[in-house]
Amino acid sequence: MDWVRAYSERRTPWDLSMVTPPLRALLRSGRHLHWGLPKRARVAVPGCGRGHDLRALSAAGMRVTGFDIVPDVVDEARALLRWNRASGKVLCRDVLGLAQEFGESFDLVYDYTCFAALPRYLRKSYALEMRTILDTGGILLQLAFPFGGPVNGGGPPYPILLEDLAESIGPWFDLVEDFAAEGSPTGRAGAERWFVWRVRG
Ligand SMILES: C[S@@+](CC[C@H](N)C(=O)[O-])C[C@H]1O[C@@H](n2cnc3c(N)ncnc32)[C@H](O)[C@@H]1O
Repeated sequence: MDWVRAYSERRTPWDLSMVTPPLRALLRSGRHLHWGLPKRARVAVPGCGRGHDLRALSAAGMRVTGFDIVPDVVDEARALLRWNRASGKVLCRDVLGLAQEFGESFDLVYDYTCFAALPRYLRKSYALEMRTILDTGGILLQLAFPFGGPVNGGGPPYPILLEDLAESIGPWFDLVEDFAAEGSPTGRAGAERWFVWRVRG
């Protein structure tokens, strides 16, 4: 997948142009407050794209750092944060190369369609990378989409199956809970599911 080209041609069907509705619903519900995260948790958002979700996490009091591999979209995400007077950083990095610079630097990783953006053979390395940047007891919060199989109308390229999660994330994380996503937009309803993973101690 050529992400630079997709953004430069503005062929970005995954981009909802708003905060992801299930994330908004989750933050409103306060469910995340039961996962033992510190106040003002340090959150990493791999593959943050244009950064809509960064501003929601920042508004919820978290210290956000977004990562994306496409320089122009990193600039767009920074501009979006500025426009919304939201605090946070956005860095141009390959999410498969964060460990050395960001070891144990975060309390929470929020993944929406970054795992799904990676081909299956890279997912185990990605999960290990996320485990490495998380501090002791850290949480990987994953909104899996498209979960269970491909969707029509522009989902990320590589769908997520339950066995993918067990195989790639299972070696380093324990599943805390999984539950249906609320408020998914048309075309994503039924294909989004939350998974909450904790770094194995
Ligand atoms: C399907 S898009 C999702 C973007 C954003 N999460 C959203 O919902 O709009 C996947 C994003 O991951 C980024 N990406 C893909 N591979 C990456 C990598 N190895 N390192 C960093 N970012 C990557 C792409 O540039 C793209 O912005």
